[in-house]
Amino acid sequence: MEKLIDCMQEAAMYITSRVGSEPISIGMVLGSGLGGLADELEDAVAISYKDIPHFPVSTVFGHKGRLVVGILEGKRVMCMQGRFHFYEGYGMDQVVFPIQVMHAMGINQLLVTNAAGGVNESFKPGDLMLITDHIKLIAETPMRGPNYDSLGERFFDMTSAYDKGLCALAREVSGSLGLTLQEGTYMFFAGPAYETPAEIRAARVLGADAVGMSTVPESIAASHMRMKVLGISCITNMAAGILDQPLNHAEVMETSNQVKEAFTSLVRSVTKAWPV
Ligand code: HPA
Repeated sequence: MEKLIDCMQEAAMYITSRVGSEPISIGMVLGSGLGGLADELEDAVAISYKDIPHFPVSTVFGHKGRLVVGILEGKRVMCMQGRFHFYEGYGMDQVVFPIQVMHAMGINQLLVTNAAGGVNESFKPGDLMLITDHIKLIAETPMRGPNYDSLGERFFDMTSAYDKGLCALAREVSGSLGLTLQEGTYMFFAGPAYETPAEIRAARVLGADAVGMSTVPESIAASHMRMKVLGISCITNMAAGILDQPLNHAEVMETSNQVKEAFTSLVRSVTKAWPV
């Protein structure tokens, strides 16, 4: 395999050749329901993942696998419109490669969003949750393998994986919008099966407030590179076994659609207030 750093540089150079070298303040990974926000950027340039050197080859995304660079609320941002999930068959190293490319482009702040199942029984579908911490118990992890010291330390801190200042900003902004922002710990499951009721009971005992199949690999890679991360989940459904009904993807999509407006306005206002 070509050296990671060389691959990052090549991808970053290609993107720069398309979008110009003006600094980009914030990287954004837009999860279910939020992808449309990338279409609202001003002066936008969109690049298909398939055109970017070394980007994972996608057979799953259809048309929405692209980076969009442009202006949102006065800040220059780079959005991933569609992300790579571990359950699709990508290696953890592939899942986090776009974050490493963002870093190679000088981006050191990241917003990650996702759809998640609510484990905390005081939550309800449609709630937004600030991710204050995470749990990942499966063995696969993105920084396994040779360490690239120029990116980060071999053994790196995860105490403040979700930046306290950005969490405070998100609370403040949601308050001023009159939005309720729940908060809690997001637990990673590999998927693509939804969890069993027993797994959800176990997750709750362990301290999880929400469960999902994304975000944690990206956060780990960002922490490795000492990028500041803000994470927000949309609670699209109560996790398995909480309500007496099966889980399905249609419900997840339906709720994320219903919350789209509130989620978008929170992301916009947070972006506006985001210190860069
Ligand atoms: N579990 C895992 N991932 C999810 C869920 C869930 O209940 N809802 C949305 N993404």
